[in-house]
Amino acid sequence: MRKQIVAGNWKMNLNASESEELIAELKTQTFNDGVHVAIAIPYLHLAAAVVQTAGTSINVAAQNMHQAASGAFTGEVSAAMLEEIGVKTVILGHSERRAYFCETDALLAEKINTALKNEMHVIFCFGEELEDRKSESHLDFVASQIKNSLFHLNESQWENITLAYEPVWAIGTGETASPVQVQEMHAHIRAVLATKYDDVLAQSISVLYGGSVKPANAKEIFAQKDIDGGLVGGASLNAVDFTAIVNSF
Ligand code: 13P
Repeated sequence: MRKQIVAGNWKMNLNASESEELIAELKTQTFNDGVHVAIAIPYLHLAAAVVQTAGTSINVAAQNMHQAASGAFTGEVSAAMLEEIGVKTVILGHSERRAYFCETDALLAEKINTALKNEMHVIFCFGEELEDRKSESHLDFVASQIKNSLFHLNESQWENITLAYEPVWAIGTGETASPVQVQEMHAHIRAVLATKYDDVLAQSISVLYGGSVKPANAKEIFAQKDIDGGLVGGASLNAVDFTAIVNSF
């Protein structure tokens, strides 16, 4: 059975005390049984957050990591560093990393290899720009992102991959893809996986949706048959809203 997952992506928000405060609030919330909850937070707060969430169901994740094991990469953080402080999940391929930090499909394939080699779980993001959708090339575009970064993996490596479809035009814009649009894309993603692997694998991967997920729209989105949860930006900065989204299954 596929996992239901709601992950918050705080992006570059909240200082250390605000982070501590939000986690303290999250710890007072009741999440529905069976939903896996994660928060992807700035590097600087990860170690404290791992300690603060010990014994809870909240999984602390990184928003990025470098592909090399170590070395002269000023300002970067390695998988081993994350692992050492107890971070076992990393978001890779977020559209903001692709757009502002020039991360390509090929680079992301390297990062995925490094993460898996370090036994980390990867939430891999991808999604089309508005022009791709307008020109009706969104399905092919997303298929190419998946192929270029993930098709070198063997079947067993997929056990540590969660996919997150995040159409760029829906991120931080308040414009959500409609449940029908998301369902169409998620079914397509599984079909793409089945061409390379098989239907069993395609049906076993959790595929999340991200892009202006809010308490008001989460229920309808999560009700779609191929949608296994959400990657939540803005609304994850509020404990009550984030919990309402988690409890929308
Ligand atoms: P918003 O929920 O703020 O649109 O952000 C989505 C996102 O980018 C999550 O990774």
